[in-house]
Amino acid sequence: MFHMAEERRRPREEGGPHPPWKSRAWTELETARARVLAMLGGLPEDELRRQHSPLMSPLIWDVAHVANYEEQWLLRALGAPAITDPAFDAIYDAFRHPRATRAELPLLPPEAAFAYARRVREAVREHLHRLPQDSTAPLLAGGYVFGMVAQHEQQHAETLAATLQLMTSPEYPVPSARPRPRPGAVPQAEVFIPGGEVRLGSTSPWAYDNERPAFSQHVAPFLMDAHPVTNGDYLVFVEAGGYEDARWWHPQGWEVVQAEGLKHPGFWLPQGGHAWLRRRFGQVEPLPRDEPVQHVCWYEADAYARWAGKRLPTEAEWEKAARGSDGRPREYPWGDAPPTRAHANLDGSTWGPAPVGSYPQGVSQDGVWGLLGDVWEWTASNFRPYAGFSAFPYPEYSEVFFGESYKVLRGGAWASAPVAVRNGFRNWDFPNRRQIFAGFRCARNAR
Ligand SMILES: [Fe+2]
Repeated sequence: MFHMAEERRRPREEGGPHPPWKSRAWTELETARARVLAMLGGLPEDELRRQHSPLMSPLIWDVAHVANYEEQWLLRALGAPAITDPAFDAIYDAFRHPRATRAELPLLPPEAAFAYARRVREAVREHLHRLPQDSTAPLLAGGYVFGMVAQHEQQHAETLAATLQLMTSPEYPVPSARPRPRPGAVPQAEVFIPGGEVRLGSTSPWAYDNERPAFSQHVAPFLMDAHPVTNGDYLVFVEAGGYEDARWWHPQGWEVVQAEGLKHPGFWLPQGGHAWLRRRFGQVEPLPRDEPVQHVCWYEADAYARWAGKRLPTEAEWEKAARGSDGRPREYPWGDAPPTRAHANLDGSTWGPAPVGSYPQGVSQDGVWGLLGDVWEWTASNFRPYAGFSAFPYPEYSEVFFGESYKVLRGGAWASAPVAVRNGFRNWDFPNRRQIFAGFRCARNAR
C-alpha cells in the first residue's frame, strides 16, 4: 500500500549538485501514462465506473486521482496556475474517502477523467520547460517531485492491475501464451549471507522519505532462500494440511484462516486430488508449479515459514542480501544499472510471475535470485521510521502508517515499474491482505 493525498510540506536537506533530471522526468511520466491508457483503453464505461471489490477504487477514480495528484504537485506546488477548482481535490483525496465508498462520489465520467489527465499533462510539459534544472529547493532538487509523481502513477497502475485481477465481469483479457524467459539453473536452495555491517536505506534523489536517511547496521550471518517460495513448494504445505493445523499460525492468522475459510492462496481453484488450476486475469490455467506463489497474505507466509522450520527475513536481512555482503551499497541486486527486461520481471508486461531461475542477470552478488520483480516479498518487519526520519513532502505519504499495523514488503512485483523499485524501496500493507501481488521467501539463522 503506497499512499498519499495532501499538500503539506516540510523542508528536507539536500546536499551537492544533482545531474540533469528533466528528460528522465518526462520519460518516466509518459511511460506511466502509456501504461495506464493501455491497461484501461479497451474497457467499457460501466466497467471503469464499477466498484469491483470493496478493497479497491473504481478504476476511473484512480485515473482522475492520478491527474489531481499531478496537478497539485507538478503545477500548483511549483507555482503554475490551477487547472481545476482546488475544492475538487476533496473527491480524489485518498484519505478522505475509503476505497469502498468512492463509487458513490460525484466522479468525473471516464471521458472527462481521461481529458482532465491529458490537460494536466500538457500543462506540466509547458511548466517543466520553465523550471530551473539546478534548483536546490527540496521539491525540485534532483527533480524529486517529478520522480514522486511518476512513481505515484506507476503505483496506481499496479493497483489497477490488482483491481483487474479481482474483476470477474467480464474477465479481463490478457495473453494466455506469455513470452517467458528461458529458465536457467538455480544452483542451490539457500545462500549463506555473512554477517557484518550493511548500509541500509536510500540516497538516490527519487527515494521516498521512508527510505531515508541511509544508515549502517550490523546484521548477523543468516541463510536466505535462493529464490522465492514457489507454487509447487507452497502446495506441499497446503496438501500436508497446513491450513488445518493451528501450530503453524500466528494467533491472529489462525483467526483469519477460520473467519475467512482460507484453504489455499488467492485465485487457486482446487480440482480434486493433486489437480489445481488458478485464475490469472481472463485465464483459468493449470497452476504453474515453478512460479513464485502470489496472493498470499503475511499470515500465510509466516505459517509456511514456521512449518518449513524457517522464518521470514527481516527487512534488514532482505536488504543486505540485495545490496551484497561486500559492503558496496548497490542500488539493485546486480549493481547500479537501472533494471531492464534482462534483469527482472517488472513493468506489468508479462501479467504474472516468471518461473524461478528465469533471470540469471538479476542474481545478487551473493547468489540470491529474483529479489526484484515477480512478487513482492513479505518480511518479518513492521513498518517503522528509520532513525532521523523526516516526513517529506507530506506526513500522509509514510508517517501516518508507521507502527504495528503494517508489515513491510520488499522487492517489487511483475506489476511494479522499474522507476518504483530499488534495493531500498519499502512497501507496506496489512498482514491479512491477499489482493496485492505478494509472495515471500524464507530465511533462517546460520548455526
Ligand atoms: Fe494515490
